[in-house]
Amino acid sequence: MPVVPNAVERLVMLRLNRAPGPVLDLVGGAAERTLGLALELDLFAALEASPTSLETLAARVDCDPAGLEPLCEFLVALGYLRREADTGRYANTRLTERWLLDADGVGAWLGFWNEVVFPFWEDNARTAIETGAPRQTLYEWLDEHPEQWRLAHEGFRAAANVLAPTVVEKLDVPGDARVIDVGGGHGRYAVALAERHAGVRATVFDAGPAREVALETARESGVSDRISFVAGDYTVDSLGENYDVALLFNVVHAHDGPENVALFERIRDALTPDGRLYVLDQFDGTARTALSRATVGFVGLTYLVTLGQRAHDVTDVAAWLAEAGFEVRDRHSFLTAPGVSLLVASPAN
Ligand SMILES: C[S@@+](CC[C@H](N)C(=O)[O-])C[C@H]1O[C@@H](n2cnc3c(N)ncnc32)[C@H](O)[C@@H]1O
Repeated sequence: MPVVPNAVERLVMLRLNRAPGPVLDLVGGAAERTLGLALELDLFAALEASPTSLETLAARVDCDPAGLEPLCEFLVALGYLRREADTGRYANTRLTERWLLDADGVGAWLGFWNEVVFPFWEDNARTAIETGAPRQTLYEWLDEHPEQWRLAHEGFRAAANVLAPTVVEKLDVPGDARVIDVGGGHGRYAVALAERHAGVRATVFDAGPAREVALETARESGVSDRISFVAGDYTVDSLGENYDVALLFNVVHAHDGPENVALFERIRDALTPDGRLYVLDQFDGTARTALSRATVGFVGLTYLVTLGQRAHDVTDVAAWLAEAGFEVRDRHSFLTAPGVSLLVASPAN
């Protein structure tokens, strides 16, 4: 777990400024790298069955016990492992079981960051900050390294797993709706809608590398007969027509204003006149808590480094929607996803 300083430490470091607050970020940075290493070693999976001695654990993950012990001890201090006082054996904590091992957790999301996004940062952050854009976008890099696309889609799906149950509750979807999930990738949101409404049929529209993961998501949830996948480029290929609902989740941050207006127009043409467009993303100007503000700041920098874009201001996105012929009807935020907002729009009459 990220280190949480106690009340006295917060007072001394953050209020009185009498001890160096940046040390918290040093520990946090080391924690992220350590967690990434533990995931790479499959350490948590190796402890899944029962508490295990250091020697047995070291043999399972093919490490020297003397090398593994400091890693385990740091993970104990961070709250990912516990060490039994009487036997000295290590075990996973509830946090690890729920969020790193559970199929609905974020292990694959962190793995994607560790293996793809942070190495991409190392190579591109400086250039992106100095010039305003990375040498190439993360999507272009993934196209050159197609074997990593699955890791990306599994990572996006892990993040979606956390949010999908809450988000679909906010979607006003007729029970027999035809839905298009534009840039729907792994298909988790389309599948969540199909699970909730037995009459919903959904099309996931994305580039070819997402197909296998999207169809796998549908199969595992038992809704394959109502989910289809269309491979294409949403900027040029036909999206189809007469959809009742369109989802555009975590896509607008990859584009500038004119590109987003053009995409919204294409979606409007694919909707029925009384259809709905739901746009989900992290928008500037929506954060109300320290964690939300930090999250929007973090993803804003990430979108610069990975896509040459930014976390768009929510008023800009609303203006682009209006320019494309939509009326924004509502906006929601989510306790379980700091910084994420959902805009509800419908074609203006
Ligand atoms: C950040 S992911 C979002 C996936 C999903 N909507 C979600 O919210 O978890 C962005 C998706 O957009 C897709 N994408 C990017 N550019 C695209 C394009 N020009 N045409 C079709 N799909 C595209 C990517 O393949 C990826 O699956």
